[in-house]
Amino acid sequence: MCQERSSAKRMNNCNREGVCCGGMQMVCLTDFEEYAKEHLSKATWDYYAAGADECCTRDDNLLAYKRIRLRPRILRDVSVSDTRTTVQGTEISFPVGIAPTAFHCLAWHEGEVATARATEALNTCYITSTYSTCSVEEIVAAAPNGYRWFQLYVYRDRKLSEQMVHRVETLGYKALVLTVDVPYTGKRRNDIRNQFKLPPHLKVKNFDGVFQETAGPEEYGIPANTLDPSISWKDVYWLQSITRLPIIIKGILTKEDAELAVEHGVQGIIVSNHGGRQLDGGPASIDALPEIVDTVQGRIEVYVDGGIRTGSDVLKALALGAKCVFIGRPAVWGLAYKGEEGVRDVLQILNDEFRLSMALSGCRNVAEINRNLIQFSKL
Ligand SMILES: Cc1cc2nc3c(=O)[nH]c(=O)nc-3n(C[C@H](O)[C@H](O)[C@H](O)COP(=O)(O)O)c2cc1C
Repeated sequence: MCQERSSAKRMNNCNREGVCCGGMQMVCLTDFEEYAKEHLSKATWDYYAAGADECCTRDDNLLAYKRIRLRPRILRDVSVSDTRTTVQGTEISFPVGIAPTAFHCLAWHEGEVATARATEALNTCYITSTYSTCSVEEIVAAAPNGYRWFQLYVYRDRKLSEQMVHRVETLGYKALVLTVDVPYTGKRRNDIRNQFKLPPHLKVKNFDGVFQETAGPEEYGIPANTLDPSISWKDVYWLQSITRLPIIIKGILTKEDAELAVEHGVQGIIVSNHGGRQLDGGPASIDALPEIVDTVQGRIEVYVDGGIRTGSDVLKALALGAKCVFIGRPAVWGLAYKGEEGVRDVLQILNDEFRLSMALSGCRNVAEINRNLIQFSKL
């Protein structure tokens, strides 16, 4: 079945509900960013925007996309286009999902419940963060037909991770996303300056009650030193021994680790530098993607996140071999704008832009997107 022919109607219709706000026409993702910056408290804005140290990697995530040039093909009858794809064997409406980000209730009172409804409506993948401010049970109840993966950290107390795995498995989550780039939390200067803390009315809901008795320093809503910095490749085998779900490793940036991931039998990789919030000075994720795709050679699916702000960014990532991309901060900006409706708008705008970029470069469906679209001399 082919999808709608053109996005022009929506793009020209500024009166359409959810696209205009108080005279402000939401045309692109940076409009949502501006709105969020204006309307969130400074500490919340700083928390979402933060990168590590000097924010070089965070900023390069965006700049790297701007350095890539496309080689469009012409006269290929793009009157009908189809943006659908599959991830881990499941069809989604277009190759953009929501990356795991913490604390959605800071941006919108319904928090992750709103995000889950929006992704269910748009039929794409929502990776729920361990650090959500709604519980996984609330999220599933709000959007029972949504397609979801769960992002997992490995705790010093392995039982805690194990309980979380069994909980999300029972709830129908379809994959585990093991985040591996946080043996320690990166140094985010403004969070330190602001002494950022979750406000008392919000909690890391999945661990409600678990840490109540613990006194001492906190980091982002849970006791400091809860994550296990001794995590290593053998923990992948441990995780495989306690779950039947596919395992996707998030935070790989080199071909060496990509090869190890394949050798350890995981089902996917998210090429990611955590939105530049961990190691400052590492590569932009889109710059790391080609060597990883070349190493993996199609043995498992490779995804990428970090700095995706336009439909042509999505096209570039797919041309360089990503099966799907994930957005982090833009989803939060959508929430800050109008909750579920705002996240839907963000996704819809990206979908429209992606469809248009595909057509303007001569691609009718995602299978036609390949490396020939990239002008390597400009890289
Ligand atoms: C505010 C914020 C919170 C995040 N929380 C998590 C998290 O809980 N778990 C995780 O694996 N990644 C987390 N990330 C990283 C994102 O999953 C993703 O890698 C990153 O946001 C992608 O970059 P982008 O924001 O430029 O799209 C967080 C990122 C941000 C901005």
